[in-house]
Amino acid sequence: PTIYVITPTYARPNQLSELNRLRAVLLHVPRLWWVLVEDREERSAVISNFLASSGLQYTHLAQPTPQEWKQQDNSPRWRRPRGVLQRNAGIAWLRHNCPPYTAAVAYFADDDNSYAIELFDQMRWTQKVSVWPVGLVGGVMLERPVCLCLGDGHPSIVTDWMVGWKASRKFPTDMAGFAVSVALLITKTDAEFSHDSKIGYLETDFLSKLVETKDLEPRANCCTKVLVWHMNAKKPLLKEEMKLRELGRRTDVGIVV
Ligand code: UGA
Repeated sequence: PTIYVITPTYARPNQLSELNRLRAVLLHVPRLWWVLVEDREERSAVISNFLASSGLQYTHLAQPTPQEWKQQDNSPRWRRPRGVLQRNAGIAWLRHNCPPYTAAVAYFADDDNSYAIELFDQMRWTQKVSVWPVGLVGGVMLERPVCLCLGDGHPSIVTDWMVGWKASRKFPTDMAGFAVSVALLITKTDAEFSHDSKIGYLETDFLSKLVETKDLEPRANCCTKVLVWHMNAKKPLLKEEMKLRELGRRTDVGIVV
C-alpha cells in the first residue's frame, strides 16, 4: 500500500527549515506520496520549487483558512484549530484521485513534528484506523492507547487511553497518533475535520465518524514505543533583522530562507 502523507503548512520565517526536516525523513520511506497543502489562496513559487527538487512524489495544493478562523496574535495559541481546511482539501484530493478499493493509507503529518523513519512501517498495513503513542504532547511525556495484544491469531485491541488532558474524549489522541485507510475515507463521505469541533476535539470528532474503539489497530509494539513527537518550534528571533529592514538593509533580498 501507498502511504499518503497530508501536511498543512503556512508561510513563516522557519517554514522551509521545518519542511526540509520532514522531507529528510520522508525520503527514507518507500511508496510514499506527499500531499502538501498550503494555507493560502494560490500555490506559492517557493513551495513549488521546494517540492520540484524534493526527490519525493507529491501533490501540491492550496487552501486558505478564512480570516475569521485565523489565530489572533494576542489570543492563547490553542484557541483556534489549525490546519483544518488544508487537511480536508487533502482528503478531497484522495477521494477524487484514488480508486474506491485502493490499498492505501492516509497520515496527517504536521510540518513541525519529529518523526522516526520506522513510524511509517507501522502504519502501512492499516485496515481501518491504526493507532500508536505520541511523545511530548498534552502536557505529559507521552499519550498512548492502552492495548491488549495476545499475539498470533488474536486481534489486538485498545482497552483504554493514558492521557493527562481531557481523558473523557472518545479518542483522546493527537493528530500524529493515527493513520486511516484511504478506502475507509472514500466510503465514509462525511468524514472530515471541522472548525466547529471544541478545542481539543478535532481528532476525536473526526475519528468518531470513521470507527468504533473496537476497530482500532494498535501498532508500535502494542503501543509501547514512541516513534513520533509533537513539537512546537521556538519562533525565530529576528530583532536585528527588523532593525536592518527599517534601514532598508534586509538580509534576504533575492534569497529564499
Ligand atoms: C495540535 C495538533 O498536533 C495539530 O495537529 C492540531 O491541528 C492542532 O493542535 C489544533 O488543534 O488545531 P499545534 O501545535 O497546536 O498542534 O498546531 P501546529 O503544529 O502549530 O499546526 C498544525 C498544522 O497546521 C501544521 O502543519 C501547521 O503548519 C498548519 N497550520 C498552522 C496552518 O496550515 N495554518 C496556520 O495558520 C497554522
